[in-house]
Order: sequence, then structure tokens, then C-alpha cells
Amino acid sequence: MKDISSLKNLPHYPVMLKEVLDTCNPKNGGLFVDCTYGAGGYSNAILSYPNTQVIALDRDPNIHHYAKKTKKKYENRFSFYNSKFSDLDKFVSKKLEVDCIIFDLGLSSLQISDLKRGFSFYSKEEPNMGMGLNKNTAKEILNNLDAKTLGSIFRLLGEEKEGLRISKNILRERKLNPIKTIPDLVKIIQKSKKKNFKKKTNISTQVFQALRIFVNKEITELIEGLIIATKILKEDGKIVVVTFHSLEDKIVKFFFTNFSSNKSKTSRYYPERKDKKILFKNYKNKVIKPDLEELQENNPSRSAKLRHAIRSNHNFTYPEEFKKKFLHYIELEKIDV
Ligand SMILES: C[S@@+](CC[C@H](N)C(=O)[O-])C[C@H]1O[C@@H](n2cnc3c(N)ncnc32)[C@H](O)[C@@H]1O
Repeated sequence: MKDISSLKNLPHYPVMLKEVLDTCNPKNGGLFVDCTYGAGGYSNAILSYPNTQVIALDRDPNIHHYAKKTKKKYENRFSFYNSKFSDLDKFVSKKLEVDCIIFDLGLSSLQISDLKRGFSFYSKEEPNMGMGLNKNTAKEILNNLDAKTLGSIFRLLGEEKEGLRISKNILRERKLNPIKTIPDLVKIIQKSKKKNFKKKTNISTQVFQALRIFVNKEITELIEGLIIATKILKEDGKIVVVTFHSLEDKIVKFFFTNFSSNKSKTSRYYPERKDKKILFKNYKNKVIKPDLEELQENNPSRSAKLRHAIRSNHNFTYPEEFKKKFLHYIELEKIDV
């Protein structure tokens, strides 16, 4: 393996880079799609192997500077598009024979540390929370949606048990003064939540997670992105996903497990199932987590989980059942201001 230690010094420390490379296996070259370029940690590591090609996407226009640097270094082997990964098939066709498609979900450190973007509860700015290519800001959502919808967002997307109380208090407060800044929002959350001294995370974590997911329609993006990736991947190609919270992991696990050839096999002596729904080969349900060294060096990796699935030789059929299973999240994310 190439020396990847210098990539840890990029403005975003690439989570589980070694494990991602072990899974993707760029040693023998091939075509890789990096759906979440960020600061380019994964893309640059893959490109450091000869005979590799990377097509990268990111919805955030602010990362152009990093993508340009990669382009300069690997001119003929790298291309970048400022796009959401739900539009992956506009840039990558099935004819290209893609070996591996990678999703490293959520936010980059570049985005969190830019306080103007309003992702952090330490920011004094407006709650924006858009990663790029968004319709609404969090501020618009907080000041316009009704209490029931806001409560559902907090509860379903942030697993915030006290979501409805927080949303009712948001409505009460905003009648007097619109919510303009992050401290305005944090104050309402602090007032609404029961004290829990055992909890290690910040009291605002779940509401912030929910708002960010909603603003960026992250659940719909993940479901659509996984489906399109499966459609364009070649036989034996891999989908690699790094998730950061239980809802993301639940979605990825459901998709890989339920559309795999070994689904419903009650015994390993039974033949593999042969219906039309098979998209993946014999999914192992293996979860890789960061090692101790990374956990010590890279705090944001603490909740990361890596899963991968291998494309079967079956023709692509649209996985309706997958979308249906998570339809309530998709319907919720469709609501606009
Ligand atoms: C965790 S960072 C990726 C870091 C990257 N692996 C690296 O090594 O630097 C996630 C990135 O994905 C981007 N992103 C999130 N959702 C996206 C989507 N639906 N489409 C395209 N990019 C997305 C974010 O803007 C962010 O830059």
C-alpha cells in the first residue's frame, strides 16, 4: 500500500482510509467513483496507484479548490462534477465498467469548521446548514414549518424523543421574534429539554443532525444514490459506504441484505435464490469500524461504520421494496417551505 499518512493532514482527515482502500483494492487499477469528494482524501489515495481513474462528485461548490489541485496532479485520470450523487448517472454511464463506487456520508471538517455555514452549535451565525445545491436553509425551515412537521423532523431524522416539545417552543418563540441565529435555536433547545447529566453528547446534537439531514434531503439522496450506483456498477463491482449514524446504517444494511442472493436462505445447504430482485452477491453483513489508532487521532470517526456489497450478474431491476420501506422519510423530506 502507498504511504497514506500525508493525507491525514488534509483539511478533512479521511475516515477509515486504509480500510476503504483494502475494500476497493485499487492496486490493479480500474475505474472508481468517489461520490463524496470532500477534501479529496479517498480520491487522491486511489489515484496514487497507477492505472486508476477517478470520477468524483460533491454537492459543495466550495471544494473546487481541492478538486482543481487533484486535477492538476492527475490530469488525465481524474474528473470532478459539482453535483448531488442522486444524479450520478448523468456523469457515469453503465458502459464505463465501474469497479467501485464509494460513499463517505455526512459532512466534511471543512464544512463543520466554517462557522458561517451554521452547521455547528458553537457558531453565532444564521442556521444555514446547506452542503450545496439546496432549496431551503435551516433558518427558513425553522421559521416557516408547522410544529407537527418540525416535531417529525426532529424525532424521525434526529431520533430526538423530545422533538415535539422543542418544535412547539420554536413556534411560541418565533411568534415573538423570528429565529435568526444559532444561539437563538440553542437557547430554545436548552429550555425545552429535560436535563440528562449522564448524556455525553451536546444537548443540541440530535436537533442539529435532524435539521441538517432535512435541509440536504440526505435520506432521499442516500436511497437514490445507492439505487443508481447499483444500476451503473459492473458485475463484481463494489459499493462501499461509510455511515455515521444509525439511520444511515439501517438503510444501507436493509438494501444490501434484502437484495442479496443469500437473503432468506435458512440453511447454507439450500441453493442460492434466483429471483429477479437479486442485485448483490452473497452479502456478508460485515461491518468494519475504525481501529484504536484512528479513534485516538480522528475523533469524528468514532461513529463510523463501513459496509460493502458486491454486484451480482443479474440485470438491474428497480428495487421498489427498498424505497417503500423508507417511504415515510422520503415523504417527510419532500416537504418544502
Ligand atoms: C465526509 S465528507 C467526505 C470526505 C472525503 N471522503 C475525504 O476524504 O475528504 C462528505 C462530503 O460529501 C458531500 N456530500 C454529502 N452528501 C452529498 C450528496 N448527496 N451528493 C454529493 N455530495 C455529497 C459533502 O458535501 C462533503 O463534502
